[in-house]
Amino acid sequence: MATELGIALLGAGTVGATVARELEVHADRLAARSGGPLVLRRVAERDPGRARQLAARGVTVDAEAAAAVAAPDVDIVVELLGGLEPAGTLLDAALQRGLGIVTANKAVIATAGHRLVEAVQPASGGLAFEAAVGAAIPVLAVLRDSLRGDEVRRITAVINGTTNHILGRLEAGDDFDRAVADAQERGYAEANPTNDLDGHDAAQKLCILAWFAMGAEVHPDQVQRRGIRDIDPADIVAAARLGSVIRLVARVERSGAGLALSVQPTLVPRSGHPLSDLEGADNAIVVESDLAGRLVLRGRGAGAEAAASAVLSDIVAVARARRAGREVPQPPAAPVPIQDGEVSETAAWLRVRVDGRPDASAVVVEALARGGVVVEQIGPGGSGVELVVLTRSATRAALDRSLTALEALGVPVKVVQHLDRLGATA
Ligand code: HSE
Repeated sequence: MATELGIALLGAGTVGATVARELEVHADRLAARSGGPLVLRRVAERDPGRARQLAARGVTVDAEAAAAVAAPDVDIVVELLGGLEPAGTLLDAALQRGLGIVTANKAVIATAGHRLVEAVQPASGGLAFEAAVGAAIPVLAVLRDSLRGDEVRRITAVINGTTNHILGRLEAGDDFDRAVADAQERGYAEANPTNDLDGHDAAQKLCILAWFAMGAEVHPDQVQRRGIRDIDPADIVAAARLGSVIRLVARVERSGAGLALSVQPTLVPRSGHPLSDLEGADNAIVVESDLAGRLVLRGRGAGAEAAASAVLSDIVAVARARRAGREVPQPPAAPVPIQDGEVSETAAWLRVRVDGRPDASAVVVEALARGGVVVEQIGPGGSGVELVVLTRSATRAALDRSLTALEALGVPVKVVQHLDRLGATA
């Protein structure tokens, strides 16, 4: 009989409680897959109600996570606290002790993951974090294991379930605050939903994708980021009139000038685009590479069971590696040049309020051209005083110049909204 491996679970919130339940209910299945028993020995949890429930099931509950990490009967630490600290310090301590580690913490992995992987001790089982991106979608495994010979050129993705859920609720007629509260109740949102709403969560995940897909060591500060707070119901209605939806889209693309990384609310064609028909907290990741072509991975990107699926898979992988005297491998990465945000390119969608005069379209087209932006389509918006404009792809600097030229017209012209726009396939 193989020896038991002791697990310390840091955090018994929505995901942690599901992991704890699965370790108990499916102990036999998990033991068979990981080469011997896995025993939940410690849970670090400060919430008295949750702590009482766990203690009643015979688990030792520590109020201090450091005590769980330092316990002599622990082999694998599962960190589900989220946020940079104290999680980062606890992971350092676990690495120093030579423990195996599983974490869903995108903030720590996006900012310190490369350093942490280098600090993994031989035969510890290693450091695994599939749950940090896309929850139930095994995207890191695919990028790491299945595209070893490919060069990934571009990733276009919806990787934040909360904002996807909120945008869907706005389409259904909900108001913003109610949609946010609903995402929190369903366990999709971060403890601080600002991280979801302002695009930080997606930017962190995008950095991890750039690491696994492109070997790039990038930091969330290098992502051109905008959240969804200023998307209002009128934008949703105007997008629908064009047969499109608005999604928070994360993109990373190689070019001669380096990597361009962005997280932006983006107009996506409703028909035929893999990012448009995502329900609730679904995520989708479109990977384009030289040999495989185009791959689309999609599934549940947030929620207790979706995240627990990835966490349990990582626990099994780390346990197997530890029993075999190995570590789970993670790909190398090196710093890369980052394209100046101003020279990265995107097509755009504008809502422009005008004064209703007959030559308004010509005036707008001419002003945009002065900034260097070519109009692909222009037509009336919902009301007689609004124009909707689709531009061709242009640099962000040219778009900024054009928006300034529009605002400077002096007549009652106002850019009400401007968003990135995806074509039918990308
Ligand atoms: N808050 C995250 C999201 C949870 O909404 O996608 C999963 O990482």
